Amino acid sequence: MTEALSPAAPAASRVLSGVQPSGALHLGNYLGALVKFVALQDRMQCLYCVVDLHAITAWQDPAALAAQTREIAAAYIAAGVDPAKAIIFPQSAVREHAELAWIFNCVARLGWLDRMTQFKEKSGQHKERSSVGLYTYPVLQAADILVYKATHVPVGEDQKQHLELTRDIAQKFNNDFGAPGFFPLTEPVIEGPGARIMSLRDGSAKMSKSDPSDNSRVNLLDSADTIAQKIRKAKTDPEPLPETLDELKLRPEADNLVGVYAALSGISKAQALSQFAGQGFGAFKPALADLTVARVGPIGDEMRRLLGDPAEIDRVLQAGVEKARAVAGPVVAETKRLVGFWTPPTR
Ligand code: TYM
Repeated sequence: MTEALSPAAPAASRVLSGVQPSGALHLGNYLGALVKFVALQDRMQCLYCVVDLHAITAWQDPAALAAQTREIAAAYIAAGVDPAKAIIFPQSAVREHAELAWIFNCVARLGWLDRMTQFKEKSGQHKERSSVGLYTYPVLQAADILVYKATHVPVGEDQKQHLELTRDIAQKFNNDFGAPGFFPLTEPVIEGPGARIMSLRDGSAKMSKSDPSDNSRVNLLDSADTIAQKIRKAKTDPEPLPETLDELKLRPEADNLVGVYAALSGISKAQALSQFAGQGFGAFKPALADLTVARVGPIGDEMRRLLGDPAEIDRVLQAGVEKARAVAGPVVAETKRLVGFWTPPTR
């Protein structure tokens, strides 16, 4: 283990994030999360997990789950996460996540969970048929983060409320157990035009794995032709692109495509507009299609190459499990001591 990753290292700059192995990754996951994973790995200690415990809050085919987990790990690496710099691992293999989640289930209040909008969206009309795990999902997410005392969490905007809950849980635990500052108040890393990528068919709906229309999203494993076609077919309006961001506000589809262009180029939406103001979608869409193919195409190719050697992905995951447990183990041991659990006598 490198010095920087030792459990004793200051927690001042530790990053944790995760992606569910519950379907094909898309451009929203890439721009909202993976791009930031890569940017942070040179600046901070980073742990990136594949959150399979979260995935099973909705039914997952047991015959496919391990392969889906490898696929997310391959996406991390293909997007530029370097296993020599960041720790990549499957959540379920680090049992400390589940252990801390139970303690946090006893810290979080029902009223806090009742306010979670994502549970309301995912459970839909039939709340009583949802798994109990779906309801306590954000508590497990807090455990994922705090089991490493992570200070920064790169995510898309849809995770903001879960990160506020994580801070509430940390604060209440610290208060209840007389341990000020034991768990940090984690900062979300959300800013930038990639934080909320919308459907290509409906500018008011989030780009999502679960949208029944495949044309609503660009998947990381789509071919170059498919990517270009989806961008060409994306819903727009007949107006040319405006000069100012204000004028985009009532044009959600145009706003979204400008945001995608900006996020893929690493510039602001205002800068993207200054390049295309006055031009119609006939000029903008081909430029966006070329850019998307140039950025996403090689990631899909690299994922396919990596998935051809699952044993190598397994080696990365296994090494990650050991490193992650070395950080999480002492935090859970100290948490249990604070709660007052019996601990084995030291010899
Ligand atoms: P998941 O698997 O739904 O999504 C993975 C990441 O992709 C981001 N994202 C988006 N960003 C921009 N635009 C979109 N349309 C879009 N759709 C998804 C998500 O915000 C997320 O960052 N609860 C998390 C997984 C999780 C987690 C954690 C994250 C479990 N434990 C601990 C951070 C820390 C989730 O459902 O991600």
